[in-house]
Amino acid sequence: MKKRIAIFASGSGSNAQKIMEHFKKNDSIEVALVLTNNPDAFVLQRADNFEVPTHIFDKPEFMQADKMLTLLYNMQIDFIVLAGFLWLIPSYLLKTYPNKIVNIHPSLLPKYGGKGMYGDKVHAEILKNKEPESGITIHFVNEQFDEGEIIHQSHFKIDKKDDLEMIKFKGHQLEHLHYPRIIETLLKKMKSV
Ligand code: GAR
Repeated sequence: MKKRIAIFASGSGSNAQKIMEHFKKNDSIEVALVLTNNPDAFVLQRADNFEVPTHIFDKPEFMQADKMLTLLYNMQIDFIVLAGFLWLIPSYLLKTYPNKIVNIHPSLLPKYGGKGMYGDKVHAEILKNKEPESGITIHFVNEQFDEGEIIHQSHFKIDKKDDLEMIKFKGHQLEHLHYPRIIETLLKKMKSV
């Protein structure tokens, strides 16, 4: 049986799209479910385009272990990918999926991480501080925002003329290049839950 990924995303879902593309024709891994807390998230459209089932949930449902775990169990989810998902992961999920939840963050952690540091806010701080370089981090998820064990980092240079959109673009390019590949490597090493 294929290993089955659930992607949690709150927004556009360009990383989710790259991951769905990457595993579309894979013999041993598939994206089985896309979940979001945001009914207007464009990631829902992207999932529909790949005929991947979706689920929208609210905070009470997310905090209620029984309901969420029943869904993940029924969908036979082996591995969880956060791709622009902004809520802290509750401990029941961390216990059920030890070292099986990964996140991507648009900076070189531990720089520009932590609560409230996400998406454009990260890029804006990097720009304000005139950093000569930035990058992306892929890491395991733990009880704290952006503090789990680092799996991969990639760097890019920031030119003096780069604006926020350019920094974001450079980061996204690296995210799209590495996230699907890193997920595949982790899943190939992993036994099913
Ligand atoms: C990505 O750049 C990701 O690194 C970031 O949100 C963006 C989502 O883009 N995640 C965080 O900031 C988490 N703290 P996408 O919806 O186009 O994939």
